[in-house]
Amino acid sequence: MKKCIFAFIFVVIFLVGAMTCLADGIPSPDAKKLLDYMVLVNKENRLPEGWEDILVLETVPDFEGGHSHQVEREALSMFWLLRDDLLQNYGIQIELDSCYRSVEAQQDIWDRFTDEYGIDYVKKYVAVPGYSEHHTGLAIDICLVKDGVTIDENDDMIAEREIFAIIHSRLADYGFILRYPEGKEEVTGYGYEPWHFRYVGDVQTAHEIMDGGYTLEEYLDMLNP
Ligand code: DAL
Ligand code: ZN
Repeated sequence: MKKCIFAFIFVVIFLVGAMTCLADGIPSPDAKKLLDYMVLVNKENRLPEGWEDILVLETVPDFEGGHSHQVEREALSMFWLLRDDLLQNYGIQIELDSCYRSVEAQQDIWDRFTDEYGIDYVKKYVAVPGYSEHHTGLAIDICLVKDGVTIDENDDMIAEREIFAIIHSRLADYGFILRYPEGKEEVTGYGYEPWHFRYVGDVQTAHEIMDGGYTLEEYLDMLNP
């Protein structure tokens, strides 16, 4: 009888908890697990159907008062830890620059960059709307702040080799990988982007990818040859 009472109490607590979460719009832990942190979105693979239904985004004000940023919840909490590590231990300041993008936002970037830089440049650095990793909420473009000056232009960031070498060496400890490494342009389909980090949901996996010098494409191919 005692067992029955305990079981009844357990079921009631579970149901009340689940209903509270739903009422508050907070996803249950199971909903979070639905998100595939290893999702592959690239030139051949578009954002999976229904992704936005399970994506939980958090909004962060821009550090300079520009447009706010949205990042998947877990990726954002790991980003803050990465940022603190770099600031406290290396004196390097990184800030959010471009994170989650809707398909419409990606189209705006595509159009603006085409006008400004031409189609060849755009094909090298900008994904076709629907095929951008930024749609996943798991991709973060950062900018640097050096001596109080914001560095956010692509060429200026590529020139900051020493700083980015340190930043890249710390990514995996927080579950991030460098998504478009130098020398892997043929594999990823994009030019070197030292500023574009991708959260893969797991520190050990991030280390396997980064320490092995793999792209996400190569790592997934190894897992499923
Ligand atoms: N810069 C990356 C490739 C994007 O536009 O998603
Ligand atoms: Zn990016």
